[in-house]
Amino acid sequence: MAPGGAWVEAVDPFDLSGVPPGTSVPVTAILAGLGITLCDNRFELAAVRVSRSPLQRAVMTLVRGVIPTRIAPMLALASNRMKAIVQNGYGSPDVLELRDIDPPAVSDDTVRVRIRAASINAFDWGMLRRVVHVIAWLIGNPVPRIRGGDMAGVVDACGRNVSRFKPGDEVFGIARGTFAEYATTTEARLALKPRPLTFEQAAAMPVAGCTALQGLRDKAQVQPGQRVLIYGAGGGTGTFAVQTAKALGAHVTAVTRTEHMDLLRSIGADDVIDYTREDFTRRGECYDVVFDIGADRSSADCERVLTPNGKLVLVGAPKRLGALLGRILGALVMRRRRGGRIMLSARARQEDLVALKEFAEAGKLSPVIDRTYPLREVPEAFRYFATGRIGGKIVISVA
Ligand SMILES: NC(=O)c1ccc[n+]([C@@H]2O[C@H](COP(=O)([O-])OP(=O)(O)OC[C@H]3O[C@@H](n4cnc5c(N)ncnc54)[C@H](OP(=O)(O)O)[C@@H]3O)[C@@H](O)[C@H]2O)c1
Repeated sequence: MAPGGAWVEAVDPFDLSGVPPGTSVPVTAILAGLGITLCDNRFELAAVRVSRSPLQRAVMTLVRGVIPTRIAPMLALASNRMKAIVQNGYGSPDVLELRDIDPPAVSDDTVRVRIRAASINAFDWGMLRRVVHVIAWLIGNPVPRIRGGDMAGVVDACGRNVSRFKPGDEVFGIARGTFAEYATTTEARLALKPRPLTFEQAAAMPVAGCTALQGLRDKAQVQPGQRVLIYGAGGGTGTFAVQTAKALGAHVTAVTRTEHMDLLRSIGADDVIDYTREDFTRRGECYDVVFDIGADRSSADCERVLTPNGKLVLVGAPKRLGALLGRILGALVMRRRRGGRIMLSARARQEDLVALKEFAEAGKLSPVIDRTYPLREVPEAFRYFATGRIGGKIVISVA
């Protein structure tokens, strides 16, 4: 055995089928065969004895299921480092780097989650901008170095004041710095993962799902039979909004680009308008609710298609700062005058995560995933996100 190495008995061929018994090979090769990634390479070499009895094979079949979910996280923590996407600068996805850093410590009121998957939101893209960091610092809430907010994973440790979760629970929710192997959060921002969903699907839900739910159910108070128009329906928030409005019993018109029309029909939109060919404000139809995600039409345009007591929910952020400020001021003034223009500012709430879970378990909500990227390819995932042409969500697979 090599100095600093470990004796490892490989009882199944994995990648070692051609390796003679007693050979020293990198221990990382063996762990890779078992689906384990070590955070650092403290163990250099291991002597290997290859054997393949039926009993050993049966044991390994069991072990292979347990190792990726239970033992790998322990090994990663034992090495006291984790992999994370750290922002090192501003401006473009090039500043996002995969690094080995210390895992977050669990405090009395927090839950540490071994992240299995995360997803990208417009909010994460905004964090690349220096001005956002400056504003956050000025208001005393500095932006953490690790990117990512949505996640799904397995509870790994709980503080002593945590009562609703325990290690081993499969959860989804919102935390700070989820493009990483571990993140901590409070129990108020977590819920048990919907049983039928994969970690990838569950990780797509928190921000986009809560935004759709809070905007349509709470702000617009959508009632069965009402007509709801979702403007800019093909992205992360949009695909949740269409399904949520349907789950609330509405008739849904989705306004989208040509390539997302079939997708939106497939998730339940009753009517689909291609905004590259038709102006929805000139159709002569009226809606009880307009849910504006696209944010490239004026609020007055959107209000023209509202019924007399209809509600305009402003969700998307216009790209230009002037337009954004105008939107915020307009919403404040018009809300006082008519009460029909509502600026949405979604929040992470456990009861809403639970409502999303129930919708998913009842088959009323099925997250739409456009692409999945491994953790190391987060910069590439951000570049794709920046195209603005995503059909549903972009998911980051961490495990
Ligand atoms: N108010 C809140 O609390 C809150 C919460 C979450 C997100 N947001 C905002 O909601 C927006 C979407 O966020 P996301 O995370 O869902 O991002 P996303 O997945 O990238 O979605 C972008 C959306 O913009 C639409 N869009 C792009 N170009 C358009 C155009 N020319 N005309 C109309 N629609 C267009 C897309 O619709 P098509 O695919 O149909 O083109 C797509 O639905 C962002 O502005 C974000 O800041 C607000």
